[in-house]
Amino acid sequence: MEIEELPVTDPAARAVWHDVMERAVRADRPHALVSTAGAFEVTATSPSTHYARTWLQAVADGEVVGVAELELPLSENTDVAWAEVQVLPAHRRRGIGRALWGAVVERARAAGRSRIGGEVTVDVASPGPAHAFAAAVGTADRHREDHLVVDLPVALCPVDPAYEVVTWRGRCPDEHREAYLAMRNQMNADVPTGDLDLEPEVLDDARLATSEERLMRAYDVRVAAARRRSDGSFGGYSLLFVPHGTDYGWQDDTLVMPDHRGHRLGAALKSANYADLPDDVRLVHTWTAPSNTAMHRTNTALGFRVVEHMYEVEAPIA
Ligand SMILES: CC(C)(COP(=O)(O)OP(=O)(O)OC[C@H]1O[C@@H](n2cnc3c(N)ncnc32)[C@H](O)[C@@H]1OP(=O)(O)O)[C@@H](O)C(=O)NCCC(=O)NCCS
Repeated sequence: MEIEELPVTDPAARAVWHDVMERAVRADRPHALVSTAGAFEVTATSPSTHYARTWLQAVADGEVVGVAELELPLSENTDVAWAEVQVLPAHRRRGIGRALWGAVVERARAAGRSRIGGEVTVDVASPGPAHAFAAAVGTADRHREDHLVVDLPVALCPVDPAYEVVTWRGRCPDEHREAYLAMRNQMNADVPTGDLDLEPEVLDDARLATSEERLMRAYDVRVAAARRRSDGSFGGYSLLFVPHGTDYGWQDDTLVMPDHRGHRLGAALKSANYADLPDDVRLVHTWTAPSNTAMHRTNTALGFRVVEHMYEVEAPIA
């Protein structure tokens, strides 16, 4: 068995890498949200200026049997590396996962990183090997979130009459950009991350524009924001992605600004986004820390149910 870098300029090799990743993930996780082949193509063929990514593959008898991804943040958190490892079920318990992990750690160290983290997600009903593997390679849990899903449609939650809902798709319109950036940066600073010691990402207009442009290539990007009628100030937003060509969405950020809490804006914004979706979108995924009581209640009231537990794990590698 050899570990090699994905020849990233080769479309057939990229397709195989993605297929092996998807089959390995789905083997244990019926509710997994897996990035689509289209989203992988965008990430693999147009490098981000904020993250350096390397894809590895384990090859046995000419066949790719395991894959790994290494992500090095370049703008914030430059002491950290993030990694994921997947091995096809028929090739497990032979040291391939450990070898892939070793290869990403070696690269992370060479890039000057002193810790390596990852997300380990396990099915609630049947947890599989992921957590035992993560412990075996020396990681410790730093944070936990629940992965929840809801079937659409959900009941519409009316917005407090003091507010109006403003929606857009794709690029945020110029007139809302300043307020939207302030909310996005508030979200990055506020979101609970448990014992993870990470600097928040700071978005400026140029970074937001680049991120919107990349995301729109893989996703229908939908935002619902709440604007207070009395003074026009924005009180919150909710961000939803629908991967092109799929029948599900995933709920990313939902933030209500501190001065605007207590009006059930979170539920109203989420449900406004869902109500706007095409009828063929049947399911929405989301993630919430169990300690985030307000958001957990909002989600379960909308009908979300917990299907997986996601552990953010980390190991020192200095
Ligand atoms: C987790 C995964 C990558 C392990 O791959 P693998 O090639 O079987 O891993 P290895 O053979 O190198 O195992 C390394 C160690 O992990 C632990 N481990 C792996 N599978 C385990 C299982 N089913 N039960 C208990 N421990 C397990 C063991 O300590 C093992 O060492 P040992 O075989 O000497 O006892 C693989 O099961 C997988 O792809 N799962 C789905 C994706 C995933 O969960 N990835 C991990 C999150 S990044």
